[in-house]
Amino acid sequence: MSATAVAVVNESKTAPIQAYIDREIDDLLASLPEPSRLSADERRGVLARYAAVLEGNFIYWMTGAYISAGSDEARAKILDNLREEVRDCHPGMLRRFTIAAHAIPTGDDAQDVYANLMSVRQFIGRLSPVPTVVTMAFFEGFIQRFMPYLADLARRQGSEELEYTDVHGICDITHTQELFQALEAEMALAPSIPPAEMFEGVGLLRALIHNIVVPN
Ligand SMILES: [Fe+2]
Repeated sequence: MSATAVAVVNESKTAPIQAYIDREIDDLLASLPEPSRLSADERRGVLARYAAVLEGNFIYWMTGAYISAGSDEARAKILDNLREEVRDCHPGMLRRFTIAAHAIPTGDDAQDVYANLMSVRQFIGRLSPVPTVVTMAFFEGFIQRFMPYLADLARRQGSEELEYTDVHGICDITHTQELFQALEAEMALAPSIPPAEMFEGVGLLRALIHNIVVPN
């Protein structure tokens, strides 16, 4: 089989998944409330719940994807992502962003996302390779496209500390592409997976992200 034929076979496996994820992200972005219509307290809440979810969980969940992956290629891509997170201290970058926007998460903010956050934690804990990589590809893709909205909220809260949103609006484009390459490698090892199982984590994460925007 030629290299072109191999590429077409691989693309046909992951392209429908990427299309599904893109639609999910489009729907989520379309559902966001217009920042100018939010009160200052509502804007603070979105920023604080985002931080409550991302700061302590992103590296943990990406580590779950690393542990669950069975292919050397997927592990290498995910490890590159983790290395950047740790080397450039992305949790610290997010904390500076949150402090500058006067949106440090409170106990109530954490409680608002508690149930949906636990559901994603338990899903990641199953260490199911393909669904976990699909979920993290969705997460990276969403984060990248969510950054202008998050930066807008922070600016409206009087912040000019936008390193976090600047960096993630760019680096997550590469991360998303790399996760789809990792997905191709994992799908080559896995038996066929029913859609409900394939996208279970995407659904749980989508509910959590909706919960970041709209408190329970
Ligand atoms: Fe990051």
